[in-house]
Amino acid sequence: VIELGPRDATLWHADPDAIVDPALLRAYFELLDPGQQSEQQRFYFESGRKLYLVAQALVRTALSAHAPVDPRRWRFSRNEHGRPDIAEPVLARRLAFNLSHTEGRTAVVVALHREIGVDVEAEDRKTEIMRIADRFFSPFEVSALRALPFTEQRERFFAYWTLKESYIKARGMGLAIPLAHFSFLLDAGPEIRVTFDPRLNDDPTTWQFARFRVSTRHPIAVAVRRGHEADLGISVREVIPLAKP
Ligand SMILES: CC(C)(COP(=O)(O)OP(=O)(O)OC[C@H]1O[C@@H](n2cnc3c(N)ncnc32)[C@H](O)[C@@H]1OP(=O)(O)O)[C@@H](O)C(=O)NCCC(=O)NCCS
Repeated sequence: VIELGPRDATLWHADPDAIVDPALLRAYFELLDPGQQSEQQRFYFESGRKLYLVAQALVRTALSAHAPVDPRRWRFSRNEHGRPDIAEPVLARRLAFNLSHTEGRTAVVVALHREIGVDVEAEDRKTEIMRIADRFFSPFEVSALRALPFTEQRERFFAYWTLKESYIKARGMGLAIPLAHFSFLLDAGPEIRVTFDPRLNDDPTTWQFARFRVSTRHPIAVAVRRGHEADLGISVREVIPLAKP
């Protein structure tokens, strides 16, 4: 068991395309609870069923890396906005986690109980970035994006996008929080700053944001409520769930 202290978090990530062994995929299926097994069967395409397996196997093995719990024993509940949290074992509810998946990458962040969120995106996905930015970003972010040279806009778009998703996921509210009600400031060097519209009733100084690039095309953002204490240390681990090292 990898002990997590109050100022630690782990970002686990996996490449589903690197997992092809049918025996391993069968082992992932065996980890799921009956509800998840039937949910997995409902995916029409093989690729969807596989992504589901890898994501759930990553969640279960990542949680079991931080608590002495068999990966098959985890049970989850969802809040009214769809956020999964640990239901059982009750003693392990001191762990908080969040899951994100996209083409070619699955990521899970784990910490001791606190608000935490993660988002991974594939930068080469077909996205009309300016149309999405105009529709969803804050006016401040849109003008910062437009001011950049064209060749830098796509990377910056996904920096904003992953950060904004990581925040709404940490709050557990998803798109019930309008994405234009908060702005990231990324032009002031490596520091990631955020400002909130008063309607969000949140304090920017209590948040820590971090960005990682885990492959040539996958940016990840993590949002964590650190309060007024020091930043958490976030260690990054790429894994193949259940594979012997
Ligand atoms: C659902 C949402 C929380 C995240 O969606 P997303 O970015 O598409 O997907 P991610 O892979 O990052 O996250 C999905 C996972 O987040 C978790 N999740 C679901 N609702 C959540 C919530 N309210 N809060 C936190 N986490 C949530 C779940 O584990 C879910 O995976 P699962 O359904 O397989 O269990 C929401 O913010 C959303 O729908 N966003 C819009 C996405 C979009 O339009 N993307 C286009 C970008 S160009």
